[in-house]
Amino acid sequence: MNDKIKIIAGLAIFVLIFTCPFWINGGKAKDVPKPVLSEKALAAKTCVLPKDEMAKNHMQLLDGWRNSVVRNEQRVYIIKDANGIEKEYDMSLSNTCLACHTNKAEFCDKCHEYASVNPYCWDCHVDPNVKEASL
Ligand code: HEC
Ligand code: HEC
Ligand code: HEC
Repeated sequence: MNDKIKIIAGLAIFVLIFTCPFWINGGKAKDVPKPVLSEKALAAKTCVLPKDEMAKNHMQLLDGWRNSVVRNEQRVYIIKDANGIEKEYDMSLSNTCLACHTNKAEFCDKCHEYASVNPYCWDCHVDPNVKEASL
C-alpha cells in the first residue's frame, strides 16, 4: 500500500520534470511572421500566381524563370490571372519581384529568417531598392 503511493508520487514527479521544458516555454514560441506587403504590392493586389501558390512555389517559379532566360533567352512570362486577363511579366528577380516587393527586408527576408533559408541569389543579383554606398 505504502509502496504504491511512493511509486505514484515518484511517477508524478518524473512526469513533472520530464515535461517542464514544455510548460516553462508554453506560449513563448515565436509566431510565424506575417509578410508585410509594400505600397506597390498593395496597389497591385495580386502576385504573379495566386498567393497560396506563391507561398509554396515561388522558388520553383524563379528557377523556371532563370532557366528560361539563361538557357532559352526567353524573357517574357505570359499568364492569365484569376479573371482570365492575360498578363505579361519580365522574368526578372530584381526587375519584377523586387520592383513590386520593394521591401525585401520585411517581406522576403523576414520569412526566410523564420524558415531558416538563406537564398544565395543576392551574391549576384541586386536589390534595386537599396542604393549601394558609393566608393
Ligand atoms: C553566380 C551569380 C549568380 C547567382 C548566385 C544567382 N544568379 Fe541568377 N543570374 C545570374 C546571371 C549572370 C543571370 C543572367 C542575367 C541576364 O541575362 O539578365 C541570371 C539570371 C537570372 C534570372 C533571369 C533574369 C533576371 O533579371 O532575373 C533569374 C530569375 C534568376 N537569375 C534567378 C536567380 C535565383 C532565384 C537565384 C538564387 C537561388 C540566382 N539567380 C542566383 C547570376 C547569378
Ligand atoms: C506587381 C506586384 C507583384 C509582383 C511583380 C510580384 N508579387 Fe509577390 N505578391 C504580390 C501581392 C499583392 C501579394 C499578396 C497577394 C494576396 O494577398 O493575395 C504577393 C504575394 C507573394 C508571396 C506570398 C506571401 C505570403 O504572405 O504568403 C510570395 C512568396 C511572393 N509574393 C513572392 C514573389 C516573387 C518571388 C515574385 C517574382 C517571381 C513576386 N512575388 C512578384 C505582388 C507582387
Ligand atoms: C511566406 C514566406 C516567404 C516569403 C514572403 C518569401 N519566401 Fe522565399 N522561401 C520561403 C521558404 C519557406 C523557402 C524554402 C522552401 C524550400 O526549401 O522548399 C523559400 C525559398 C526561397 C528561394 C530558394 C532558396 C534556395 O536556396 O533554394 C528563393 C530564391 C526565394 N525563396 C526567393 C524569395 C524572394 C525573392 C522573396 C521576396 C520577393 C521571397 N522568397 C519571399 C518562404 C518565403
